[in-house]
Amino acid sequence: MILKNFWKVINRPIVGLSPMDGVTDPSFRFIVARHGRPDLIFTEFVNVETAFFAPDAFIKDLTYDEIERPVIAQVYGRDPELFYPVAHVVCELGFDGIDINMGCPAKKVAAKGSGGGLIKTPDLARRIVRATRAGIEHWVQGQTLLDIGIPSELIQKVKASNRLRSGCESPPARLPIPVSVKTRIGYERNVVESWIPTLLDEAPAAITIHGRTLAQGYKGSADWEAIARAVEIASGSPTLILGNGDLRDMSDVVRRVRETGVDGALLGRSTQGNPWIFRAKEKAAPGLAERFAVMLEHARHFERHWGTERFVAMRKHLAWYCSGLPGAATLRSHLVRVNGMNDVVRCLRAYELSIAERRPPTVAAESGVDFACEPAPS
Ligand SMILES: Cc1cc2nc3c(=O)[nH]c(=O)nc-3n(C[C@H](O)[C@H](O)[C@H](O)COP(=O)(O)O)c2cc1C
Repeated sequence: MILKNFWKVINRPIVGLSPMDGVTDPSFRFIVARHGRPDLIFTEFVNVETAFFAPDAFIKDLTYDEIERPVIAQVYGRDPELFYPVAHVVCELGFDGIDINMGCPAKKVAAKGSGGGLIKTPDLARRIVRATRAGIEHWVQGQTLLDIGIPSELIQKVKASNRLRSGCESPPARLPIPVSVKTRIGYERNVVESWIPTLLDEAPAAITIHGRTLAQGYKGSADWEAIARAVEIASGSPTLILGNGDLRDMSDVVRRVRETGVDGALLGRSTQGNPWIFRAKEKAAPGLAERFAVMLEHARHFERHWGTERFVAMRKHLAWYCSGLPGAATLRSHLVRVNGMNDVVRCLRAYELSIAERRPPTVAAESGVDFACEPAPS
């Protein structure tokens, strides 16, 4: 069921899965929803232009499962006229929210004026928020994808995606979904003092702030004092502030929430290979059997969604899951060469055998995989 403005009803502090291009794809999101159950989930960002020149890729990236709710589609671009129809499409796909990326530092994005580039063009950033909101409002009033000239190929793909996920071609009700923004503290330097008020003027439901400038990329550490300042600036406004950057586990989240007063936080890199991170309070780290079961489930989902041609993109996830295992380096070196489910099963089975036998490296007869394991845990 789509929630009417979930931001208003969700418990705080909110702890969500941060959008990551090439990582938070439909398979990883499904696995995180099933095994981590964060408070909310963002898709990886999708270019608004893709909806029109590559509708297949657009819909594949925005595929989701009902268990991911609340699930937010993140989009980026620089042309307000494209955000308007894309907001319609995101509504029609039944998402719980739409998030506008105003923080991506990648050259091919920011240098063209999209993503973090919008920090330099605040008027354009505001027009984009307004165009998105107008798209949502007109959709709620009954405007159809056909009315606004969306190509029929995309309309058919939206219907097919909805049917596959929910059994219905359209969402059950036309509810106004909330608009949020994810950004950084500045382009070359911290401009929170001027940038956050600019965004607040448009009253987004939430602003997520990654505590680095674009120029920093991922260097140095996230500036949580700048995030705390954004919280002060936003106090009294209806907009929630979420902090982001360098949170390694739930205790980091708790500490930062206490220190800064943010309404919540998003976790990015610390979730890679660790969908359980969100459950840290409930449960200890998973044992080998659970970890392998989830790796297989993830790989199976991925192969079903993307096919074996794209399986190369699954390898990094498999490698991330190995962190902390005895013989991780060797297991990883095999997993980064797999081409499909069968290879994954063979690798994991050979690893389990070598652990069970606590043996020094031998060649597993069935798989041909040789695990030079460190001593197995007692
Ligand atoms: C591989 C990768 C891809 C990312 N893609 C996106 C994206 O599509 N949209 C976005 O808003 N941020 C993106 N980010 C930024 C993260 O959402 C997050 O802001 C950043 O990694 C800092 O948080 P962390 O320290 O918890 O990882 C990406 C980060 C990484 C590492």
